[in-house]
Amino acid sequence: MKALEIKKLKKTFKSNFLFKKYEILKGIDINVEEGEIYGFLGPNGAGKTTTIKCVLGIIFPDAGEISIFGKSYNTGEARKKVGFLPEHPYFYDYLTARELLTFTGNLFSLPKKQVSNRADELIKLVGLEKKRELKLKKYSKGMIQRVGLAQSLINDPDLVILDEPFSGLDPIGRKELRDIIISLKEAGKTLFFSSHILQDMEMIVDKVGIILDGSIRKEGRLSDLISHSVRYYETVFTGVAEAALRENNLETNRLDNNYIIKSESEKDANDIIRFVNGHKGQIVSVTPVKMTLEDIFLKEIVG
Ligand SMILES: Nc1ncnc2c1ncn2[C@@H]1O[C@H](COP(=O)(O)OP(=O)(O)OP(=O)(O)O)[C@@H](O)[C@H]1O
Ligand SMILES: [Mg+2]
Repeated sequence: MKALEIKKLKKTFKSNFLFKKYEILKGIDINVEEGEIYGFLGPNGAGKTTTIKCVLGIIFPDAGEISIFGKSYNTGEARKKVGFLPEHPYFYDYLTARELLTFTGNLFSLPKKQVSNRADELIKLVGLEKKRELKLKKYSKGMIQRVGLAQSLINDPDLVILDEPFSGLDPIGRKELRDIIISLKEAGKTLFFSSHILQDMEMIVDKVGIILDGSIRKEGRLSDLISHSVRYYETVFTGVAEAALRENNLETNRLDNNYIIKSESEKDANDIIRFVNGHKGQIVSVTPVKMTLEDIFLKEIVG
């Protein structure tokens, strides 16, 4: 079953000035399967937060359909399956993590004992056990992000939506957040997060949707998007005389005693291997260098 399905979603904002209309979402389709980590990728202003706000029912779409586990997004049944971490979470400074989680649990009218157990469990999950009695005003950006994530999980949602969860985190914070996201997937949750930090996305997502200027430009499994595309072949070799390279007009880079040649096709790479063997050289490695998510993303944007 699809955890989240968006069909032909449109959203227009009207400006107060001259009643001009801006079409921010131009009929987007998104398909998130149950149990996967979905990366929603797009440059600033592409429409990621607007899409998420529509899914959460914070703003209303002009057209299109949104369903969550097969139910229309604006039903109670769909709503209670969703957890959400906003782009810039902000909490009351004078609460501790535990108090915040208790407060949120009570909003969901969960039984007292369940709230207490769940709060402890979540504090552990996000690695804040040692800071649980500290007031939130003393928390770093990364810790606020983690307590926000814990809060979004208090009602044990099946679909967790995170808007730019990696922004502003240092490399350690990013690694920790990636690990938490993966552990949530292992616990059977579906994760949908927006980001423009490509490396983080590439490391954990199953599927990617690229949004640009209010339209989905590409959607697919990361493995399919990346593996089809070899950018170039890199052949590293040693033991060939410089003169032979010059005679054959071969352009090389040097690294210590090795030469490196980039070739565009497999055939060109094979020609190099034959040349090296024919000149008493040794092949050190031949690597097909694949497209990264960044290459795909840039290709979509720049063309
Ligand atoms: N309430 C609003 N009224 C008018 N325009 C809006 C409103 N909210 C968003 N926009 C515009 O819609 C566009 C998309 O904004 P959105 O916040 O969805 O982008 P984003 O992809 O989340 O970007 P970022 O990566 O910067 O968070 C922007 O041009 C923004 O200025
Ligand atoms: Mg945004």
